[in-house]
Amino acid sequence: MRTLKPQDARRIEALIGRMTLTEKLGQLTMMAASHTVTGPVITGHSVDDIRRGRIGNLLNLIGAAAAREMQRVAVEESRLGLPLMIGLDVIHGHRTLFPPPLAEAALFDPQAWALTAREAAREAAADGISMTFAPMLDVSRDPRWGRTIEGPGESAWVGERLAQAKVRGFQGTDLAAAESIAAVAKHFCAYGAVTAGREYASVDVSDRALLEVHVPPFAAAVSSGVAAVMPAFTDLAGIPMTAHGAMLRGRLRRQLGFEGVLVSDYNAVAELIQHGVAADLVEAAALALAAGIDIDMVSGAYLQGLPVALERGLVTLAQIDESVRRVLALKARLGLFEDPYRRGASAESAAAVAGRRRLARDVAARSIVLLTNREGALPLSTDIHRLALIGPLADAAAEMRGPWWSAADPEAQISVLTGIRAALPQAQIFHASGVEIVGADESGIAAALELCDEAQAVVLCLGEGATMSGEAASRAHPQLPGRQQELAEAVLRRAGARSIPVIAVLFCGRPLIVPWLAERASALLAAWFPGCEAGHAVADILTGRASPSGRTPITWPRAVGQIPLYFEQRSGGRPTDSGNTFSSRYIDESTEPLFHFGHGLTYGHFNLSCLRVTPESANPSDTVQIRVDVENQGERRAQETVFLFTHRLKSRVAPPLLELRGVGKITLDPGTRGTVTLLLPVMELQSLGPDLEPTLEPGAIEILVGPSAARASLLTGRLEIVT
Ligand code: NOJ
Repeated sequence: MRTLKPQDARRIEALIGRMTLTEKLGQLTMMAASHTVTGPVITGHSVDDIRRGRIGNLLNLIGAAAAREMQRVAVEESRLGLPLMIGLDVIHGHRTLFPPPLAEAALFDPQAWALTAREAAREAAADGISMTFAPMLDVSRDPRWGRTIEGPGESAWVGERLAQAKVRGFQGTDLAAAESIAAVAKHFCAYGAVTAGREYASVDVSDRALLEVHVPPFAAAVSSGVAAVMPAFTDLAGIPMTAHGAMLRGRLRRQLGFEGVLVSDYNAVAELIQHGVAADLVEAAALALAAGIDIDMVSGAYLQGLPVALERGLVTLAQIDESVRRVLALKARLGLFEDPYRRGASAESAAAVAGRRRLARDVAARSIVLLTNREGALPLSTDIHRLALIGPLADAAAEMRGPWWSAADPEAQISVLTGIRAALPQAQIFHASGVEIVGADESGIAAALELCDEAQAVVLCLGEGATMSGEAASRAHPQLPGRQQELAEAVLRRAGARSIPVIAVLFCGRPLIVPWLAERASALLAAWFPGCEAGHAVADILTGRASPSGRTPITWPRAVGQIPLYFEQRSGGRPTDSGNTFSSRYIDESTEPLFHFGHGLTYGHFNLSCLRVTPESANPSDTVQIRVDVENQGERRAQETVFLFTHRLKSRVAPPLLELRGVGKITLDPGTRGTVTLLLPVMELQSLGPDLEPTLEPGAIEILVGPSAARASLLTGRLEIVT
């Protein structure tokens, strides 16, 4: 077992020798805590269950004092004094909220991804938390799926890098440190491919899609030493992941070498009954344990069902001991035996908290994607002194938190209104919501329109509420909800008549289907959910204090009927762009996206030229250097992002049109030029052959470099692989 000290291994074996069956099942159980006015309660159980060893782990316990008290009961009042592992969904910050993963993915910056995870870990650990149910690594190509916001977007390549960075950030270099927490890579596997984007629905993907798209981010998490993995709620071609021995024991443990803890999703073991593969809790528990699930999260199936399953011979004591061993090993790695009170022992300094908010503002500004900008509508002119701020998301501080707010104080979030007022103290800011986020009331539109008559520019804050994405938030109509389109169209007409610019800022957990808005607004921004510093970050971008650099990590469709739409598609024998009737296209909609993967404008104007590939002929041990010159021909300092794609011209398996291989960034002053260098180890060009085994085929590869996956924007070169 990874990094387990010999004395810990001995201690664990000695403990297993002394534990009763109940105490063992307690270690394999995680129950949810919540709070009453007088302190924590455990849903459906009592603190006495900790004392009696029936509960060995908790989740959703918030606050250092509560965590310490529960830990004290476990350590000082239970027979064996085993410490608790305390888990929480620290997805994008704990008290200080950063943008959610999809928004952070827009940074294409692993260092920033690791940094926010590190800071979140520090904050959570200061509250006695030792495990986070993150990172979520589900690749999603379907914006209808609400959980798209929680993951890396459409690219497995991004998912792999996000996995590595987040595991590094949460776990640090020493998992036992007071500031480190165990990461849980979730949800294994292919949850992002739920049928029709409908939450919790069946998944049925090919083995190739599984191995090319859905497994790689988990493989990256495992090789980065992730402490735990959570299987998905869903079934994979009929086998619920919670009972999927071939995927959990086979693929994850044997093939990927995962040695850590498998923790079920919330109540997922009991839900095997609802899936229709278990008759009762006994069978459900037996199936999950046999598949390799170590911890049963809240269903109680292990506590209730495994004793009977043992009697009936459905499971063995050795299987139970194996899981107990893994759970205790993780507790040892977390340093919980050495000092169960290490996390949460000291309050954080004001300086640490302030530094974290600065980071949140910086990351939020960098996550915002400038989708369109006509005639230099942005940044706002410096002499603006009358600005209309319209829309239901303009003064909606709590919505800025996004889908997971952990222990964040709703009062501590900065609304756009507050941020703009702070950024433009000399300006008059007129504000009206116009309409609610959802709902049919249009009575506020008229008052909002009047503001347009007074203003020099309008900022329209539109989109989804925080809980309209995330878990259980699939949408069949991923458009502007409620009457927001009516509001926006009325504002566009009124402002258009007066020739004043309308800047639309979208708050959303997914790409929204808004072609009409993209065509008509003077500028369009995807702000996602920026987190606690939302208002300041949005104001930073609007005023030009920060230069936009975010790039969309997911394709924006023009129509729901185009979903799934992603850059890695294969051409087929009758490609989309072949220009004849019998090609892969729609008769009633374009096949082009609204915005390509990687799209994002800046306040600079970049020209890419002179693509060099060295060497042009390479063998498997080579690393190819790809260089491109970048010139900022604009009038402002800005950062350009350069994507490296490849396309195999011929192979035994039809190759995707584009495969992402690298991302480079360069910041340039106006009128200056530089070179971006990207390194491509030839072995990374391996693909899965017809037998699904990795193989490096000789032959020609197209090298494509540019600012997004829009093919017309890419410079092309050629590389010959010689094997
Ligand atoms: C259910 C969600 O699917 C999972 O992501 C989360 O970690 C658990 N609930 C615990 O809150």
